[in-house]
Amino acid sequence: MEKNQIPTVLILGASGTIGKQLVYEMDGKPVNVRITSRKQEVVDRLCSEGKDCKFLDLDDPQTFALALAGVNRVFLLTGYTVGMLTQSKTLVDAAKKAGVSHIVHVGVFAEWDTTDAHFAWHQMIEKYIEASGIAWTHLHPNMFMEALTTAYLPKNLTFTTYWEDRRVGYIASSDIAAVAADVLVGGPERHAGEHYWMSVESYSGKEIAQLMSEVTGLEIKCEEKGIEEFKQLIEDWISKGADSWYASANIEFVKQMLDGRMSYMSMVQNDIPYILGRPAKTVKEFLEENKHALIASATQNE
Ligand SMILES: NC(=O)c1ccc[n+]([C@@H]2O[C@H](COP(=O)([O-])OP(=O)(O)OC[C@H]3O[C@@H](n4cnc5c(N)ncnc54)[C@H](OP(=O)(O)O)[C@@H]3O)[C@@H](O)[C@H]2O)c1
Repeated sequence: MEKNQIPTVLILGASGTIGKQLVYEMDGKPVNVRITSRKQEVVDRLCSEGKDCKFLDLDDPQTFALALAGVNRVFLLTGYTVGMLTQSKTLVDAAKKAGVSHIVHVGVFAEWDTTDAHFAWHQMIEKYIEASGIAWTHLHPNMFMEALTTAYLPKNLTFTTYWEDRRVGYIASSDIAAVAADVLVGGPERHAGEHYWMSVESYSGKEIAQLMSEVTGLEIKCEEKGIEEFKQLIEDWISKGADSWYASANIEFVKQMLDGRMSYMSMVQNDIPYILGRPAKTVKEFLEENKHALIASATQNE
């Protein structure tokens, strides 16, 4: 189907953490890039700049057909809601009807029999993609390094962790985007049926605080908070509009980190050098890049 034609790649989530960087990575690549947005004003602006951009709302399957017409490869990214299940199911069905030949999906870093809800949703989506008959590539990033400069920014010279001394593996979202770009350009001939694992380095809260101290020159300590304090944090997220199903899954995440069922989160499994032919970004490099934001937040009194 794709022979002798320049493939068209559809990018979902183009305004998000990974998606923005993916659009940047795709610039100049030998494919047609089609960006989608659920905001009409964004679509209008990008079209007026000469970009191939279509309106697509994952919660409205009636918007899928026009966006998918003529598309060969899809980058499937959903946000932080349980809605990802219906969104992905309906999008995969539409992709099948549109004759898409490759789906590249952003999932999670999990054992196959995970019992964490959010991780299980992603695995069900992966199985649904596989059952569609469309060639697939599954990306498995561990925790984004960006968590250290957003939700878990140090405050009052303190980095807070909710999973005691357990370690978590990290990956820079820019590396996820670089891998996605490589896979979307290489296409199904090169990447069909592959799982790419992205967990570059694994650290406990204390070790992160130590790295933050080295990078900033400040003395940043690590505070271990418990599940009850995490539940308060989640209540706060929900009051600010977070999806309550996804938020509850986060409580389960902390529980399972503490009781050992999610100890696989501490694994290092780094496929990036194999795919990109270069090392992945380290946590220290990421913290160096964000040194000023870390200092500003850590020294700000609340
Ligand atoms: N954070 C982590 O540590 C981590 C680890 C492993 C896996 N993941 C996975 O990574 C994914 C999220 O990636 P991200 O952080 O790059 O996402 P993000 O920054 O939250 O961006 C989400 C993107 O999806 C778009 N979107 C949301 N709802 C939509 C809808 N109904 N229709 C069309 N577009 C919609 C958003 O568009 P708007 O601009 O219109 O909102 C935005 O572009 C999730 O599946 C998550 O499970 C995250």
